[in-house]
Amino acid sequence: MPINVPFEIMVRDDVDSLSEAVVDVLEKRLAERVDHGLTKPLGLATGRTMEPIYSALVGRLKSWPDSLLDSLLDGWSSFNLDEYVGIGDGYSRSFCTYMKLHLGIELGLTPEQLSIPNGLADNPFKEASRYRQDLERSGGLGLLLLGLGSNGHLGFNEPPCGPKEACRVVSLSASTREQNSFAFGGNLTDVPKRAITLGLSEILAAEEIHLVVTGEAKANILSSFLNSSCSDHLPASWLKIHERVVVWADQAAFKSF
Ligand code: GLP
Repeated sequence: MPINVPFEIMVRDDVDSLSEAVVDVLEKRLAERVDHGLTKPLGLATGRTMEPIYSALVGRLKSWPDSLLDSLLDGWSSFNLDEYVGIGDGYSRSFCTYMKLHLGIELGLTPEQLSIPNGLADNPFKEASRYRQDLERSGGLGLLLLGLGSNGHLGFNEPPCGPKEACRVVSLSASTREQNSFAFGGNLTDVPKRAITLGLSEILAAEEIHLVVTGEAKANILSSFLNSSCSDHLPASWLKIHERVVVWADQAAFKSF
């Protein structure tokens, strides 16, 4: 069935070849960053989808000549999408720890270079506002990597969510807490009930967006996303108003087409 969507869809056989293809683009953009002094921070996601991508990216960057890699890392600035409220640095399940493990330690990046909301802040509402202002001062997002939640969320923008929502504290839905309980040893009660997330407004203001969707479990939501018009009930559908989106999928997620 032909799909009428306003963006490119890149499909690869499996997760490995898809990750390498995404990293081809990332590597090119990062090299341009060094060459042309591009300053807008990267936007980064967490989750299982991103793990093979960060692993491939680290491998690729480590093969760069030292001087090029040093220039890239000296100028590195990224902002993550989200963090749970109540956990953070020092907590094994936090997105802060995830980023340290998958990117920070491997590449020698400092916490200041890898920005992420502080889930341990005394006042999460003030923290969300600080994070939004920090991103604004840094010029907003350049290239943004996104995963897709099983209910169509981006970051932690749970349905219903409109395109003007900004960085804020949100309550997580039962289905999202269930989806993410794998990272808490399967203990649903350990999954925090709230999070701080960049909103769709900061996401849609990114210069270029790459949405990555893998695995059979995402086939239904990918199909709904590709076939739906923009609706608050499927937050990811608002990507259709952005001019530079690429959707990356493996065959397992894309199979229903
Ligand atoms: C999580 C995160 C998102 C992530 C998405 C998909 O809840 N907040 O940033 O992209 O859901 O996660 P996964 O890649 O594990 O399927």
